[in-house]
Amino acid sequence: MAAKINIGKSTLEVVQSDITLQDTEAVGNAANSALAGGGGVDGAIHRAGGPSLMAELKARYKGCPTGSAVMTGGGNLKAKYVIHAVGPRYSGSPKDAALLGAAYRESLELCSQQNISSIAFPSISTGVYGYPVEEASRIALNTVANYLERHQDIKLIRFVLFDSRTYQTYVAALKELVLPE
Ligand code: APR
Repeated sequence: MAAKINIGKSTLEVVQSDITLQDTEAVGNAANSALAGGGGVDGAIHRAGGPSLMAELKARYKGCPTGSAVMTGGGNLKAKYVIHAVGPRYSGSPKDAALLGAAYRESLELCSQQNISSIAFPSISTGVYGYPVEEASRIALNTVANYLERHQDIKLIRFVLFDSRTYQTYVAALKELVLPE
């Protein structure tokens, strides 16, 4: 199952799948600011990628602020890189949206710096961190669509949603996405 749109020469795609199986050059992770690992997609990526991910995080970084991202190699994953992005815990404050958008944008900036042309993202913050999926999906898709309009170096951004409700919500948000002329 998949839905997609083209933005310039790039593709923005929404699929229902497991992010650890993706063959994009990079995969995004929904990490915490201690970069300590955890459950959900973070646990799945560390299990599939192997111990080199945590070893590299510990060696290179002292945590990561909410709304930002750091990069490691992909270890045993097909993806060559993992971008560990830290989304906000949902609080209901207007800051949530800015921080969630920043987590995606900073991830894409790391891709541009590293000449990475394809990335798969999970739905950051909508699991343990409690962000309502309707709102989070609009922020996620709008943020990456805006980035793609300005940076045609990234050819593919794929959202990989695990459960069917989250997938359907992202499909609906993709249909509603308004792209500037
Ligand atoms: N592939 C794709 N998506 C997945 C996978 C997977 N293998 N496993 C879980 N997900 C989905 C969840 O179903 C949810 O829709 O990822 C989304 C994000 O949920 P969480 O992993 O709970 O992430 P988040 O809400 O950002 O919370 C981050 O959880 O595990 C901890 O260390 C992590 O403390 C951090 C917090």
